Amino acid sequence: MPPVYPAQLQTRRNTTSYRASQISSSGIRKFFDLLSSMGEVVSLGVGEPDFVTPWHIREAAIYSLGRGDTMYTSNSGLLELRQEVASYLHQAYHLDYDPQVELIITAGVSEGLDLAMRAILDPGDEVILPDPAYVAYPPCILLAGGIPVPIPTRGENQFKLKAADIEARITDRTKAILIGYPSNPTGAVMSREELAQIAKLARKNNIMVVSDEIYAQLVYGIEHSCFASLPGMRENTILLGGFSKAYAMTGWRIGYAAARAEIIQVMTKIHQYTMLCAPIMAQMAAIEALKFGEADVQQMRQEYDRRRRVMVAGLNDIGMACFEPKGAFYTFPAVRGTGLTSEEFAEKLLVEEKVAVVPGTAFGECGEGHVRCCYATSLANIEQALERMSRFVDRHR
Ligand SMILES: Cc1ncc(COP(=O)(O)O)c(C=O)c1O
Repeated sequence: MPPVYPAQLQTRRNTTSYRASQISSSGIRKFFDLLSSMGEVVSLGVGEPDFVTPWHIREAAIYSLGRGDTMYTSNSGLLELRQEVASYLHQAYHLDYDPQVELIITAGVSEGLDLAMRAILDPGDEVILPDPAYVAYPPCILLAGGIPVPIPTRGENQFKLKAADIEARITDRTKAILIGYPSNPTGAVMSREELAQIAKLARKNNIMVVSDEIYAQLVYGIEHSCFASLPGMRENTILLGGFSKAYAMTGWRIGYAAARAEIIQVMTKIHQYTMLCAPIMAQMAAIEALKFGEADVQQMRQEYDRRRRVMVAGLNDIGMACFEPKGAFYTFPAVRGTGLTSEEFAEKLLVEEKVAVVPGTAFGECGEGHVRCCYATSLANIEQALERMSRFVDRHR
């Protein structure tokens, strides 16, 4: 069934599409525009590593450029990189993907997400996802003609998605469940048992799962559970992975998707016409990252862990209740004690104390009452931010 658009929009010419009008600009960007006009701001806002890409990874790309590797690659990406990704997934999760037909190299998880949605959705198909969730999820669903069906998650339950809540929202039009754990914005991680409940539901109802695991390597004191490694889920999962976070490679625009051949073939068809291939220098760098980057990941993870503990303790001390996030590099403390909404809190904190955090509502309605604080910044910055936030919270109690 095609979507029913408002009548007055069906005949408009010389204008932008109704579909595009359904999405708004990222709430995070709005905030950073404000921030860039101010001096001396301590930012816990932007969700990217403060490390530069490890030198040997940059060097691999420089070397390949020097050698003249400046062409398109195969649409699917360099076979060597697909082989490295396959061997990484085998080592990490005992998952076997055929690098020839079950893997595609994408321009970041962002492109992987877009391709996944466009490959599986028909107009009017519903996609269940947690609220709050990563800002790009609902727009990617809408732009592919789908309908996002957000499932409220709560701080009391560490913002985990419950299988029973999903079950209550399954309809004839439910095509997929889109999850992303460790979570941006909450830092929540779901245990293997909790994920298995969702897997069971997906299998029973024959629903596809798109699992964004970009933070898989950034977990603290626990093991990451890959959704595709759950019983029966390899064939029914589109696994999205990337290099941006764990290897500090946000600017390179490189990631991958793994799924059964039939799905990867359709994703590759779309990618071939819209992206053609991921940048070759980024692919060269990613090969180096997978081959020799594990020690760097470990080092950065240790440093994030140190910062995580300081931030969680500090936030709870100043009365911003915050559960201990076990993954990614975000905390999602409550601001309710101040009587301010998330947006008011973030705006006033920026103006009065020059600390940037992101309002929880940028990630969905259920983010109300919370703000996202990213700890991918120096300990000195975190300590400075906590001092300023403490003053702010005391003033607004
Ligand atoms: C959950 C999640 N998925 C995907 C992305 C985008 O990743 P990439 O840089 O690989 O496009 C981000 C970036 O913040 C993210 O937090």
